[in-house]
Amino acid sequence: MANFIVTIDGPSGSGKSTICKMLAKNDGFIHIDTGKIYRSIAYLLGETFSQDKLNKLKLDFKLQDSQILLVANGKILNDLLSSEYIAKKASLIAQKEFVRSFVNDFARKIAYNGKFVIDGRDAGSLIFTNAQLKFFLTAKTEERAKRRSIELSINYKESLDSIIQRDKQDSERKVSPLVVPKGAIKIDSSNLAIEEVYSLIKSYL
Ligand code: C5P
Repeated sequence: MANFIVTIDGPSGSGKSTICKMLAKNDGFIHIDTGKIYRSIAYLLGETFSQDKLNKLKLDFKLQDSQILLVANGKILNDLLSSEYIAKKASLIAQKEFVRSFVNDFARKIAYNGKFVIDGRDAGSLIFTNAQLKFFLTAKTEERAKRRSIELSINYKESLDSIIQRDKQDSERKVSPLVVPKGAIKIDSSNLAIEEVYSLIKSYL
């Protein structure tokens, strides 16, 4: 089978993961969440993070219900990665070139054959520059903070502070900062229901 790759990049809380899950459930895509790969590294290596430890890291994956699950020592990590604490750590380690290159290689290894939707910050601008379709999904900061506070059951202020901090780190870092990929279709989801974003994306497929 030839590869068919759709990338969805954008800041935290823009709805990327939800849309990818819908495409995986309804439209035959396999979903790779590159943010989860960064989160796994942050979770597994914690404070003792170093290039040497990353080189020795045994991170694996398996496919289940069209989702890529991340596995270490036989344990599925996906459900352990959603806290803002891990998100902030992921955003910090994501500034290192050697971490980014580990994640990029890992994602490319998974998406070598099939129909994939991949979300992240640089899926279309760097990891999969040859993707058939690229989207950039965004929304106003306050709206994204509201969504995350509901999703994670945390207070709005905590969510807003975390989003502002991560947006800054993600867009100002030297190595592959968050940008709108060349040729990407830009969608602002601030005033759209998730079903409307899904329909809009489907209209391009
Ligand atoms: O998307 P998610 O919020 O799970 O990503 C966690 C962190 O990982 C982001 O804040 C970002 O710093 C980093 N990330 C990245 N590049 C990607 C995906 C995520 O730098 N492609």
